[in-house]
Amino acid sequence: MKLVQTIKELQSELDALRSEGKTIGLVPTMGALHAGHASLVKRAVAENDVVVVSDFVNPTQFNDKNDLAKYPRTLDADCELLEKVGAAFVFAPSVEEIYPEPDTRQFSYAPLDTVMEGRFRPGHFNGVCQIVSKLFMIVNPTRAYFGEKDFQQLAIIREMVKQIGFNGLEIVGCPIVREADGLALSSRNARLSDEQRIQALQISKTLFASVEYAQTHTLAETKAFVESAISTAEGLRLEYFEIVDGSSLQTVCDWKDGSYIVGCITVFCGEVRLIDNIKYKE
Ligand code: PAF
Repeated sequence: MKLVQTIKELQSELDALRSEGKTIGLVPTMGALHAGHASLVKRAVAENDVVVVSDFVNPTQFNDKNDLAKYPRTLDADCELLEKVGAAFVFAPSVEEIYPEPDTRQFSYAPLDTVMEGRFRPGHFNGVCQIVSKLFMIVNPTRAYFGEKDFQQLAIIREMVKQIGFNGLEIVGCPIVREADGLALSSRNARLSDEQRIQALQISKTLFASVEYAQTHTLAETKAFVESAISTAEGLRLEYFEIVDGSSLQTVCDWKDGSYIVGCITVFCGEVRLIDNIKYKE
């Protein structure tokens, strides 16, 4: 495995491999890798000849500068994990390498990017599209892998690729990876104290319980069930819970209103902002 820090070096390595007809898988990450990332990389390794993992904390997607400052940075540990799971290249550029000039491009995929995270994190998805589009142009991958934990991000990236094309690039969405007790894996979990870790467990517990509850209750009742359970849970503060169509991301009012229905939640546990989602129908 090779650690590469410049676009020029990465492209000369990849051009050589591409000219031999090799397929290239890309797994974009912001580092602080965990088993969820490992599962994306393993899938990419199984489906492509060569896998590039980008490890770059992208400043343009942080609307909260405090969150950017506190984002964990663990490149050495990341490289150790990536070597084990079979990545060929770790691309860890500097901010100046990626943004020699401020990126003034505007990406808008309304109404996909105006709801949920788009409402609470203005500019976030614009920043995600800036970095992801740059990575697609730099790496020119055959396939790119994203986790379903960031459900809205995945939908927006799919739409961006539909509109821009990126040489027929295929986007592969991969299921959420959870701890044995249900907590969705996230780089932000590292910031939870032991007590908060226990409190955060209520998020996935409530989502799982709501799938059961939904069998015999209306959509509105199910939404209220989740909102009330999280709002009254010790140490948690609900930012939003929406039950949406899994493709359009727009809220649905009745279980009969769609064949793909997903509940998306964002909760603060202390200062740590956690997201999760659950499928009710697919
Ligand atoms: O999901 C993430 O970790 C980031 O948003 C991504 C896709 C790597 C872009 O910085």
